[in-house]
This record gives sequence, C-alpha cells and structure tokens, in this order.
Amino acid sequence: MIRAVIYKSATGSCERYARVMSRMLAIPAYPADRCPLPKGIEVVYVGWIMAGRVSGLDKALKNYKVCGVVQVGMSPPGAAMGETCRKNHSLASDIPVFTLQGGFDMSKLSAPLRLIMKKINRGIVARLEAKDALSDAEKATLEMARNGKGEPATWDGVLEVVDWAVALTEPPKVIKWREP
Ligand SMILES: Cc1cc2nc3c(=O)[nH]c(=O)nc-3n(C[C@H](O)[C@H](O)[C@H](O)COP(=O)(O)O)c2cc1C
Repeated sequence: MIRAVIYKSATGSCERYARVMSRMLAIPAYPADRCPLPKGIEVVYVGWIMAGRVSGLDKALKNYKVCGVVQVGMSPPGAAMGETCRKNHSLASDIPVFTLQGGFDMSKLSAPLRLIMKKINRGIVARLEAKDALSDAEKATLEMARNGKGEPATWDGVLEVVDWAVALTEPPKVIKWREP
C-alpha cells in the first residue's frame, strides 16, 4: 500500500504534481528533505530531471520502498525518457516510471544552474525552430527555452499516475452519517 508521496522540487512543478496526487489519493505529500516518515515505507517518488537523472531518486531508493517514479522535465514526455530513468537509476522492472512535462523558471535557479541552462536552452531553441511542425508539448518546451520561463502544455498528465496509484492506496475512511 502506498502511504505517501515524496518529492523534490526546485521551481515548483514537482511540488504541484505531488500535491495533486496527495489530494486525489488522500495520502500525505512530503518534501524529500523534510519527510517525517520511517525508512522503508512505501511511497511514490516525484523528482525533476537534471541532465537525464531524477534528482533525489537514488537517496529515495535507499530510504524507502519506492513503488513508482514520476520524473518531471521541460522536454516533451516520451517513452525513451522512461527507459533512460530506469537505466540510470537501475530501477527494478516492476517499478513503473511516469514522465510528465513540468514548467521552467530561470529566475528561481541558482547562478551556476542558470549558466548551464542558458547554454542548453540555446540548443533547444535551435533544434525546435528547425522543425516543421511542433506538438503542443514541443511548443511549450520552445517557449520555456526562449523566454526562460513557462508552463507545460498540460498539467493533466498526473491523472494517469493517480489512476495507477489509486489501486495501491487504502480507500479513505468515510464515517457514514445517520439520522440521530
Ligand atoms: C540544470 C538543469 C538541468 C535540466 N535537465 C533537464 C533534462 O535533462 N531534461 C528535461 O526534460 N528537463 C531538464 N531540466 C528542466 C527541469 O527538469 C524542469 O524545469 C522541471 O519542470 C523542474 O521541476 P521543478 O519545477 O519541480 O523544479 C533541467 C533543469 C535544470 C535547471
């Protein structure tokens, strides 16, 4: 049974997804560095992608029983990204990986990360501008890279994660109201 959502978020997207999951599944969500739960507890982990790796995931895998991973990046989500995550973090084949598009906000990054992203964003803009037709997610990525700030094409991808997780969480206890 999944007991909680644990997340790591630099600019808010993972936190937003974790909070939606928490509300819809009626389980708590905690930032990874302030999680009061005992080690070994069953969780879903939500983390942002940094150069192809999911931030904080290795530590979460050591501390908790991670039942599913939600990786959040500014790129358009694609099946290959799930495989990269699985390979880079040596994930067991029975742990599902969900890839969601998150937002991007240069102004919330530290100076060294801003520097890295300025260069990477230039490459993204050049690559996407050279394409004939862009999907909505690609358009969102292009906006983020061009402007240094932006939202994903949709925040609704998280509903797929909720659909998967709902069978693995205890139904909330409802106290039935009766006529006195
Ligand atoms: C240094 C750095 C590296 C990043 N590398 C990737 C990447 O490899 N792939 C990707 O899709 N997004 C990448 N991103 C974008 C973030 O994963 C994306 O903005 C995400 O939504 C951030 O989540 P947060 O708002 O919860 O911090 C990178 C961002 C930074 C700052």
